[in-house]
Amino acid sequence: MHKSTIEIRQAFLDFFKSKGHEVIASSSLVPTNDTTILFTNAGMNQFKNIFLGQEKRKYSRATSAQRCVRAGGKHNDLEKVGYTARHHTFFEMLGNFSFGDYFKKEAITFAWELLTSPQWFNLPQERLLVTVYSTDHESFDIWEKDIGIPSIRIIRIGDNKGGPYASDNFWQMSETGPCGPCSEIFFDHGEHIAGGPPGSLSADGDRYVEIWNLVFMQFNRQSNGNLLLLPEPSVDTGMGLERITAVLQNVHSNYNIDIFTQLIQSVAQVVGITDFKNISLHVIADHIRSCAFLIADGVLPSNENRSYVLRRLIRRAVRHAYNLGVRQGFLFKLVGPLIQIMGAVSHEIQRQQNKVELTLKTEEEQCIKILERGLSILEGELNQLSDDTMPGEVLFRLYDTFGFPMELAEDICYQRNLKIDKSGFMHAMQIQRQKARNANTFHTEFIERFYLTETSEFQGYQFLMLRAVIILIIINGKNVDTIHTGQNGVIVLGTTPFYPEGGGQIGDNGTLESCHNANFIVSDTKRYSQAIGHHGLLTNGTLHVGEEIVARVCEERRKCICINHSATHLLQAALRLLLGQHVQQKGSLINEKILRFDFSHDKAITQKEIHQVEMIVNQQIRRNLLIKTDTMELEEAISRGAMALFSETYGQYVRVLEMGDFSIELCGGTHVERTGNIGLFCILSESGTAAGVRRIEAITGEEALLHIYNQKKKLSEICQLVKTNPSQIQKKITTLIQHTDTLEKNIKKLHNQQAIHESRLLIPQAITIKGVTLLVKNVKNIEPKVLHIMIDHLKNHCNSAIIVLGTIANSRVSLIISVSTDLTNRIKATDLVQYLAHQVSGKGGGSPSLAHVGGINFTALPMALSNIKLWLSDQLR
Ligand code: ALA
Repeated sequence: MHKSTIEIRQAFLDFFKSKGHEVIASSSLVPTNDTTILFTNAGMNQFKNIFLGQEKRKYSRATSAQRCVRAGGKHNDLEKVGYTARHHTFFEMLGNFSFGDYFKKEAITFAWELLTSPQWFNLPQERLLVTVYSTDHESFDIWEKDIGIPSIRIIRIGDNKGGPYASDNFWQMSETGPCGPCSEIFFDHGEHIAGGPPGSLSADGDRYVEIWNLVFMQFNRQSNGNLLLLPEPSVDTGMGLERITAVLQNVHSNYNIDIFTQLIQSVAQVVGITDFKNISLHVIADHIRSCAFLIADGVLPSNENRSYVLRRLIRRAVRHAYNLGVRQGFLFKLVGPLIQIMGAVSHEIQRQQNKVELTLKTEEEQCIKILERGLSILEGELNQLSDDTMPGEVLFRLYDTFGFPMELAEDICYQRNLKIDKSGFMHAMQIQRQKARNANTFHTEFIERFYLTETSEFQGYQFLMLRAVIILIIINGKNVDTIHTGQNGVIVLGTTPFYPEGGGQIGDNGTLESCHNANFIVSDTKRYSQAIGHHGLLTNGTLHVGEEIVARVCEERRKCICINHSATHLLQAALRLLLGQHVQQKGSLINEKILRFDFSHDKAITQKEIHQVEMIVNQQIRRNLLIKTDTMELEEAISRGAMALFSETYGQYVRVLEMGDFSIELCGGTHVERTGNIGLFCILSESGTAAGVRRIEAITGEEALLHIYNQKKKLSEICQLVKTNPSQIQKKITTLIQHTDTLEKNIKKLHNQQAIHESRLLIPQAITIKGVTLLVKNVKNIEPKVLHIMIDHLKNHCNSAIIVLGTIANSRVSLIISVSTDLTNRIKATDLVQYLAHQVSGKGGGSPSLAHVGGINFTALPMALSNIKLWLSDQLR
């Protein structure tokens, strides 16, 4: 049977629909509210809370085709891409899920029916092999007795990855969270391909390819390695769409299936080569998929976390193309063909095609510049090398400061028979990492180590003070029963009025007090899954688990935060009104002082627009609109016009916040009752944070008033300084600037004249090398054009000489070289150009008697000038 990828995806979903499964759309590649994974790495991610029993849905069986990226974090296949027939950074995972519904027997039976039934995939049974977790006798028996697979083709695999439950047949989503033993189904691609069966030493080969993983979800893994039972045994399966398509299309490599064949052809056309087998084409075809889908899901290239992974993917693709001779952006040209080839699943890319293309193009161009600049710096370093090894520290600097890829530096050094000091590189990297680690906050460490299973009820919409019971105390990462005076810790309460940081809004501050005068000062509040943790210091008494306390949120601070949060909603609505519906939230920070709002928009906001936004928001404040919240089903919220962020996954029920007729948004934060409470709104700054993302910082209420007062005060101080009044100030300052400009010009002129005048005085500084007069001078504080005049003067006074003058202006180096005609048969000015240009990272040209060089490495000028003596003496040998 020969089916297209699109048909195979559909057949899978249809099969499970016919078995009572709800078909669920793929979620974003960017996981929401989950710090345990970098990217969506499996179909089950969006259902994690259902497996954990923390969320309920209408259905107990589901199926999906989930887009996944495995290019960072626990599941990472990046380095394998291009070198095996079956690995990708981006792929689609077909899956069926049972949430406490069916278990092993049905999961195995469904899988076997879909794979082997003549109505469905019709695979020859004798080419299928299965594995089970070594102690999972139940699955072994189902495969052998119920399905009828000979026991020789059922392989048991134990903990083969160096630890308890570390096994190819024990699947876990990340270091913590849902996990369980699994049973995998392999397809034998035939003897002509290298590789042994699963569990053998050569299992890494491409002959036996795992096509489907059936995970029997039973546990919730804790950070200390303990496995707690899940509320109900469940099922999570995953079948790589590209792998099963390769099998069904009778090709061995995923890169030969229909969509990849077409994509590789498009890549070949864009980069201009015809050798379709070139590995670089596979890498680029793989990476354009991950890059385009990541950007469409809201990731933009930068130097942090997942944005950095995207940047690495783009750079890796560009480097592969660079090796093929491509010197211009090309990835962005592949977005169109990708949408065509992938069809409906690339709908989000198509919707944002311009943005995806522009992001890629900008990043590619920057990357090519980096490559070229890095190459020229590396060239300089290579020329200065005194032995045959490139120092690791230099390579690290290139890598760290310029983003120049280590592998490329390595290639270039090897081409010249130079060695690389890898351990030096690693050492420099380790120092850097340590620095980064030290900069980490307690919070992230805490999150990494903890996965709390307790539940706290948030009551902070209605109350700022509540009686509550302590259900957990954590000190230095350990659960304890008691906290004493002077100790820092985290206290989890059964109910709390404290808002945990989330949705951009900062966590609440306040106190937890017992009737025995214990006083815990809460400095921050964070959510850990369903639990709310109060971070702080016990300043008096002791507190125990089980004790009742009074939790009191700092009211003043909370009020300011609410004002800023409500103002953020008005700001978003105003921006969409003024700039257009493409404005989408990309991030926010709301605390008691300021609000920060990042949003998609591809050019800077003008002064006029800023003013307009301020006017609109303040107008809505004056309208004193009622702010009300409602809980409803997601579909209803969206149909009423609430903005759902594509990059977020929402539960079935959502909280909707409306501000009169002006704004409707999904929001879990705390707000004021009427927009009038905001008082005043004032934008402090507007800037760009990444390609296509702008940031506005603003203040409200009393802060805004104070700001305006300070501005007025400053203005009157300035008026006093320049002796005028506010109505005349602009005119006055313009006059002052013009005056300073004239003065500066005059000074420059004087400097130039003085330098020209004094050029003759340089003559005694000339030295003689092997009978040749050499005059070299670093002239300070002049304009480069003056060098020409100086050199003319000097030539008139020295009949036979080599003269080199250099200067630095606007962070650039200028050099001028004159060789008197009697010497040009021995030394040419242009020879010196070559010698000097690479030292100052620049270029130059001219004639044998007069030449010039311009460069960017101005710190190298003194050294370059002093090296001339040696060079000359060498040349005159
Ligand atoms: N979640 C399982 C996997 O990714 C099915 O292999």
